[in-house]
Amino acid sequence: MSEPLVVENVVSGYDQADVLSGVSLTVSEGQITCLLGSNGAGKTTLIRAILGLTPARSGRICFGDHDITHQSTHRIAALGVTCIPEGRRVFPRMSVEENLRVGAYTESDREAIKKRFAEVFAIFPRLKERADQLAGTMSGGEQAMLSIGRGLMSAPKLLIVDEPSLGLSPLLVKENFRVIKRINELGVTVLLVEQNVRQTLDIAHRGYVLAQGRIVAEGDAVHLRDNEEVRAAYFGG
Ligand SMILES: Nc1ncnc2c1ncn2[C@@H]1O[C@H](COP(=O)(O)OP(=O)(O)OP(=O)(O)O)[C@@H](O)[C@H]1O
Ligand SMILES: [Mg+2]
Repeated sequence: MSEPLVVENVVSGYDQADVLSGVSLTVSEGQITCLLGSNGAGKTTLIRAILGLTPARSGRICFGDHDITHQSTHRIAALGVTCIPEGRRVFPRMSVEENLRVGAYTESDREAIKKRFAEVFAIFPRLKERADQLAGTMSGGEQAMLSIGRGLMSAPKLLIVDEPSLGLSPLLVKENFRVIKRINELGVTVLLVEQNVRQTLDIAHRGYVLAQGRIVAEGDAVHLRDNEEVRAAYFGG
């Protein structure tokens, strides 16, 4: 079977400028693959290229047996690629339950939706307790859980998470990583985009380091932890 996501030599960017200059990476079935990189490295741009929002100018992106390089965002989502965006963006004036329901909008089978609610509530009991609460009145940590829960409601084959720990307290960051690990253990393939190197490499199987639109290091998470380039760039030498 082919790997869920294969990105080959992708060039992408905005207006005249290229942000990504030939990025290649593979996300393996059943694993957490991480993409590390500092501010402005091009991480979100790569996600946008995968989702068809900032299409690749050259190169190729395949999801399973499908070449998705020039597919619409809608079609890519329908294939099972779900992204939890930077900044979490829940619908503040909708209840927790309504927010979750939006995540399952492509599913019309009521039983399937019910099952997904049960799965999400098993991972996040707090969301069940707060089902009727307006999302905008919940704490930052609860909103973070809700955004992940909403992503899971689509029953993704590949879950892409863009900097989930940004802006959270250390305790919530820890909880967030624990949840992502658990989701992966339940069988979801994950592409985790982060700046939080240590904790990301603790839960990831493999990883890539992006700097100025190029992959500068890659390998097993254990090896990346010892990699000089990664250390120099992220741990201050
Ligand atoms: N909509 C846009 N229009 C023009 N340039 C953009 C746009 N979005 C991002 N850029 C530029 O592309 C480069 C990469 O940005 P990108 O958002 O991909 O980085 P990132 O690695 O996700 O950073 P961060 O960790 O801050 O989220 C930056 O120089 C940024 O200014
Ligand atoms: Mg970003």
